[in-house]
Amino acid sequence: MQYQRLGTHNWTQWREAILLLEAQIYEPSRQDTPETLERIICDGQSVSLAAIDGDRLAGFCLGAPLEYFAHVRGPAEDPARGSESALYAADTLVDTHYRGQGIGRELKARQIEAARSEGFTSICGRNRAGLAQAMWQLNTSLGARAVHIIEKDYQDGIEPDICIYYHIALSVP
Ligand SMILES: CC(C)(COP(=O)(O)OP(=O)(O)OC[C@H]1O[C@@H](n2cnc3c(N)ncnc32)[C@H](O)[C@@H]1OP(=O)(O)O)[C@@H](O)C(=O)NCCC(=O)NCCS
Repeated sequence: MQYQRLGTHNWTQWREAILLLEAQIYEPSRQDTPETLERIICDGQSVSLAAIDGDRLAGFCLGAPLEYFAHVRGPAEDPARGSESALYAADTLVDTHYRGQGIGRELKARQIEAARSEGFTSICGRNRAGLAQAMWQLNTSLGARAVHIIEKDYQDGIEPDICIYYHIALSVP
């Protein structure tokens, strides 16, 4: 498995595969639009990575400064927003075919290390209780602590409709 940074240099190359996995894996209420995905990946301070097997996209994790997500519950109420020191982890997924092989953990470990070395002091994000249970387990193993429980934000009729907003503190490099 190869791990690559995503950015303006390879957005066009991976765009279709990213949009396909996003649509296949997230239920509609958690999917980001193509425009949002492009904005996150192509931001100058993006910390986004892809896991690539040959020429196949196995998974990705995306992050951009918290300030970009003022319209999202969690970031909207976060006092850290404005400090320009927090990375918002927007999407993480691994294709079902590749799960359980350590790819999700490797993507997150690399994202955390890159964020730390690029000057971020924390990572924050949202995990849906139940549907993102594996991600929440992974995040807690990396130091995540819940800072805000948000109810009825997805409003898609799927229970539980509970979002865990978390922070991971990063130590100084
Ligand atoms: C979360 C996800 C990215 C994990 O990817 P993965 O490559 O299968 O994960 P890994 O093999 O690296 O496992 C990492 C950890 O995830 C957790 N995990 C993985 N599969 C799990 C499962 N079926 N149940 C509970 N926890 C699980 C464990 O804590 C595991 O720890 P370990 O390394 O000690 O075994 C993947 O399950 C996924 O794409 N889920 C759907 C998308 C999603 O909901 N993303 C999160 C919302 S942003």
